[in-house]
Amino acid sequence: MSNYKRYLITSALPYANGPVHIGHLAGVYIPSDIYTRYLRAKGADVISVCGSDEHGVPITIKARHENTTPQAVVDKYHAIIKESFKQFGIDFDIYSRTTSPVHYETASEFFKKLYEKGVFVEKVTDQYYDEEVGQFLADRYITGTCPHCGNPNAYGDQCEKCGTSLNATDLIDPRSTLSGSKPILKATRHWFLPLDKFQPELEKWILEDHKEWKANVYGQCKSWLDQGLQPRAVSRDLDWGVPVPLDGAEGKVLYVWFDAPIGYISATKELTPNWEKYWKDSDTRLIHFIGKDNIVFHCIIFPSMLKAYGDYILPDNVPANEFLNLEGDKISTSRNWAVWLNEYLVEFPGKQDVLRYVLTANMPETKDNDFTWKDFQTRNNSELVAILGNFVNRAMVLTHKYFDGKLPARNTLTDYDNSVLHELPRIKERLEHNLEEFKFREALKEAMNIARLGNKYLADTEPWKLMEKDPRQVANILNIAMQITANLSIILEPFLPFTAEKIRKMINFQSKEWKLAGLDSLLAPGHILDKPQLLFDKIEDDVIAVQLNKLQATKLVNQNSVKNVPEQKGSISYDDFSKMDIRVATVLDAERVPKTQKLLKLKVDTGIDVRTLVSGIAEYFTPEEMVGRQVLVLANLEPRKIRGIDSHGMILMAEDTSGKLQLVSPAAKVSNGSTVK
Ligand code: MF3
Ligand code: ZN
Repeated sequence: MSNYKRYLITSALPYANGPVHIGHLAGVYIPSDIYTRYLRAKGADVISVCGSDEHGVPITIKARHENTTPQAVVDKYHAIIKESFKQFGIDFDIYSRTTSPVHYETASEFFKKLYEKGVFVEKVTDQYYDEEVGQFLADRYITGTCPHCGNPNAYGDQCEKCGTSLNATDLIDPRSTLSGSKPILKATRHWFLPLDKFQPELEKWILEDHKEWKANVYGQCKSWLDQGLQPRAVSRDLDWGVPVPLDGAEGKVLYVWFDAPIGYISATKELTPNWEKYWKDSDTRLIHFIGKDNIVFHCIIFPSMLKAYGDYILPDNVPANEFLNLEGDKISTSRNWAVWLNEYLVEFPGKQDVLRYVLTANMPETKDNDFTWKDFQTRNNSELVAILGNFVNRAMVLTHKYFDGKLPARNTLTDYDNSVLHELPRIKERLEHNLEEFKFREALKEAMNIARLGNKYLADTEPWKLMEKDPRQVANILNIAMQITANLSIILEPFLPFTAEKIRKMINFQSKEWKLAGLDSLLAPGHILDKPQLLFDKIEDDVIAVQLNKLQATKLVNQNSVKNVPEQKGSISYDDFSKMDIRVATVLDAERVPKTQKLLKLKVDTGIDVRTLVSGIAEYFTPEEMVGRQVLVLANLEPRKIRGIDSHGMILMAEDTSGKLQLVSPAAKVSNGSTVK
C-alpha cells in the first residue's frame, strides 16, 4: 500500500459489562495486534487505538441486577479488560473509554455538527413508558409473551426461546421489568440518520471501489444494501450515555452505536495533538478490526456518519472475522461458556504466547471455527515444544557446547547449506504477502516454517556426530542455525511477542527491524550468545482434564437452570422481606375444587391454626399425594375468595421455566408453625 504515509488501526471497543474471552481475542484483538506490530517493525507511522464501550442498555441492566450504578460496573470491567490486554501483549497505543470527558465532548460535538447541517430526520414515535417509574423503556426492559411461540418471558427486542427478533409492540401482555406494571404507549421525539440517502454513495464505495474486501464482509454489506437501507434512530430515552446536546432533549442520550465508534476519534485525540492528521489526511490508511456482528456499523453506519460530517477519511479495509466456538458450542457470556482471559492468566501463568499461537492458528478468518482444549494441548506439545522450542534449544545448546556460546565463522558452504539460507527470504516474502491480505493463519504457518526448516536442517546434518571428523562443517551448521534463530526473533515478534523477546535475550540481539528478516548474516562471527532457556514446556493431560471438567460443570449448571430464567425482580429491603410470615404446615385434608382443572382445596395445620386454602397445583399433585405432606405456607397473605372458597394463605412452590411445579418443604420434618426466614 505504497501511497499511504501512515496507518490508523482501530479495534472494536469491547463492552465494559464483562471480562474479555478467547472469542474476542481470536476475532479482533490478536489480528489487530499482529498487524500493528508488523507495521511497527517495518518502521511505518502507525497508531493503534482502542478502549472500553461503556454505554448502552445491557450495562444499565447489569447495574440494576448488581444493585449498583452503571459507572461502578464499567469502572470494574474497564480495569479488568485493560489489564487482560496488557498481560496478553495486545499493545494499543492507547486504551481509553467512552466515559472519558474528551469522548463526551467529541461525541456531542459530532452530533451537533450533523444536527446543524440538517442531516438528521426528526420523528415522533410511540414508545412504551413505565408510569410507575416515570421512564421510557428500552426494549430489554420490556417482557411479554412471544406472539410466535408463546414464551411468556420474551424480551422487547427478541424472544430467546424461538430466536425471533421482535418489536416491543409485538409482545402480548407487555410488562415493564422495572416495576412489573403494564407500560403505556407515549409519544417521544428522536433523531434519525437517513441511511437511505447515503445508499447510492455507499453502493459505489463498497460494491465497486472495495471489491478486495474479505468475502464475508463484502457479502454482508451487499445483502444490507440489496435490502435497502432505512433511517436509524441515533438517540434513546435513557439516563445512561452521552446526553443529546440540544435544548429540550432532557432525558435523552446518544444511541450507544452512535457514540461508540466516535470513541476511536476521542481515543486518538487523547493520544496525540496530531490526531487530525490520522483522521482527515487522505494519505492515512484507516483499518477497522472487528467481529462479524459489527460489520454493518463499521461499513455502513459509521462511514455514513463520517461522510455526513465531512473532512474525515473512510476505512480502507474492515477485515472482520467470523466467530470462534468453544468445544463445539457458541461462546456465551450469560451461559458462562467461555475461556475468560483473566482466568487463563491465573491458570496458565506465563503461557500467553501459547494461547496467542493457538488462537491465531484457529483464527475464524473465513468461517466460524472451534477452540478445543485437546487442540490447545496438541498445538503446544507438537508444534511449539517439538518444533519451535526444540529447534531454538538445540541450536543454542550445541553452539554453547562446541563453541562456548560464541558464534563460529562460516567456511565454504555445501549446496544444502546454501539452499537452506535461500529459503529464508522466500518464506519471509510469502509471510508478508499473507499478512498484507489479513491471512493470519497462513502467515503464522510460514513463520513456523522457518523453525521447521531449522529443525529439519539439524536433523539432516546431525552436527553432534560430526565434531571429531569435520569441525569446519559443524561451524557452518551452527552459524546457519543461529542465523535462522535470529530470523525467528524478528519474524515471531508480531505473533508471539513474549517468545520473540526471550529469543532476542538468549541470542543477545535486540533489533526488531523487519527489513533484517530474510538476511543470512544477522549475527557476526564471534558474537556472544546468552544462556539457553526453554521457550515452552509440555502441557500434560491432567491440566487439560481440569479445564474440561470446568466446562462440564458449567454444562450441568446450565442444564439445570433451564433457559429463560425470569429476570431478577427489583431489590427490596430486609423489612419488606420480614413482613412475610412463612410457616411450616402439614396438609390434613385435600380435595379437588369442582369444575376446575388446577385447583385443590386444602386443610392445613399451620401450628397457629387449622385453616383452609386453595392452591393451583391440581395438574401436578393428586389430593391423595398431598395429604400428610409438610409444606411452606405464606400465612399472612390477605385472605381471598377463590371459586367461592375463602383461602387463607398460599402454599409456596418452585416453578421451573416450563411452568412445572414442585413442592418446597423442610429438608427434615420440623414442628408445624416453624418459621421460615
Ligand atoms: N462494543 C461493541 C461490541 O462489543 C463494539 C463497538 S465497536 C465501536 O460488539 F465501533 F463502536 F467502537
Ligand atoms: Zn418466541
